[in-house]
Amino acid sequence: MKATARAHTNIALIKYWGKRDEQLFLPMNNSISITLDQFYTTTSVTFQDDLASDVFVLDGVELGGAEQNKISTFLDLVRKTTKHHGYAVVESSNNVPTAAGFASSASGFAALAAASTKALGYEISDAGLSILARQGSGSACRSIYGGFVEWHMGEKNDGTDSFATQLLSEEDWQLSIISVMVEAKQKKVLSREGMKRTVETSPFYDGWLASLEPDLLATRAAIANRTFEQLGTVLERNAMKMHATTLGANPPFMYWMSSTIEVMQAVQELREDGIQAYFTIDAGPNVKVICQPADERVVMDRLKQLMCVKDLFLCHPGPGIHYLTT
Ligand code: ADP
Ligand code: DP6
Ligand code: CO
Repeated sequence: MKATARAHTNIALIKYWGKRDEQLFLPMNNSISITLDQFYTTTSVTFQDDLASDVFVLDGVELGGAEQNKISTFLDLVRKTTKHHGYAVVESSNNVPTAAGFASSASGFAALAAASTKALGYEISDAGLSILARQGSGSACRSIYGGFVEWHMGEKNDGTDSFATQLLSEEDWQLSIISVMVEAKQKKVLSREGMKRTVETSPFYDGWLASLEPDLLATRAAIANRTFEQLGTVLERNAMKMHATTLGANPPFMYWMSSTIEVMQAVQELREDGIQAYFTIDAGPNVKVICQPADERVVMDRLKQLMCVKDLFLCHPGPGIHYLTT
């Protein structure tokens, strides 16, 4: 009744930003990501008969309130799917900053989906696991797979066709993703709340949606052909558009800090010097810089010179879900 799974975070090249169904976590659009080797969550789930409720321990601290609720709601879904009754102890550790825009919700719920089904001996396909993880946090459905991944939004209302597939494995294209930490604190507007407010109130949201098809086509082509400049150009533009929608929300909000902009400008300057580097930013102030392995040292050295940079993590495409023996 116990199992341990590890899932890596993923960084979106084409962003998931907005739900058409909040209950089922059905997105407004397809999204494309890279799974990262250095950031991951390890989660053990133990179903026990002597519990009166689920217990959630994150990085050694037992959490209650909204955090425990999210876990219990997710485990309710697992219980419904597997027809198992009984509560569980969930022990998780994040090898990634929590709720700071480094996608801890993606690795967190992918690991929880895998460990909880495995603990119950429930046979599930990767697509099934992706559908399950999606209902904990949308971006988690992409972390089932390694390398380059696309989440297909699906057309059905029941969510059975909304899951991720792998475009290229982590061995197929070596890229460098430098996670630039300018602020480790947890974000004020969680992704869930931020995208909801944007969908409901931002007049720029329709423009965002209308602009996505060419971005998706160009990204798929760049990945299939390993054309880095094309990939970088599109991913940077896509991130800028996503963040522009938040400025139009009511009340408006912004994930960037002045340090975020300093890093963005440094990346633009690197390009002026002939180095192919591009940035993307998720729901938080931290920046991810993408370049080719041959340039990673130069890019790291330039970013290190910025006073606002607190830490740099060099990542490469990483693996999908895997189980650890306990
Ligand atoms: P992030 O950028 O880190 O993904 P989000 O706002 O999307 O930030 O999600 C943060 C939330 O993800 C946390 O409040 C918590 O509910 C959930 N989360 C983070 N780590 C884990 C974990 N290891 N297991 C389960 N849920 C987690
Ligand atoms: C900006 O998956 O964290 O990182 O589904 O509400 O849990 P919920 O949100 P989450 O949103 C991620 C938003 C993003 C873009 C992306 O990862 O595609
Ligand atoms: Co998240």
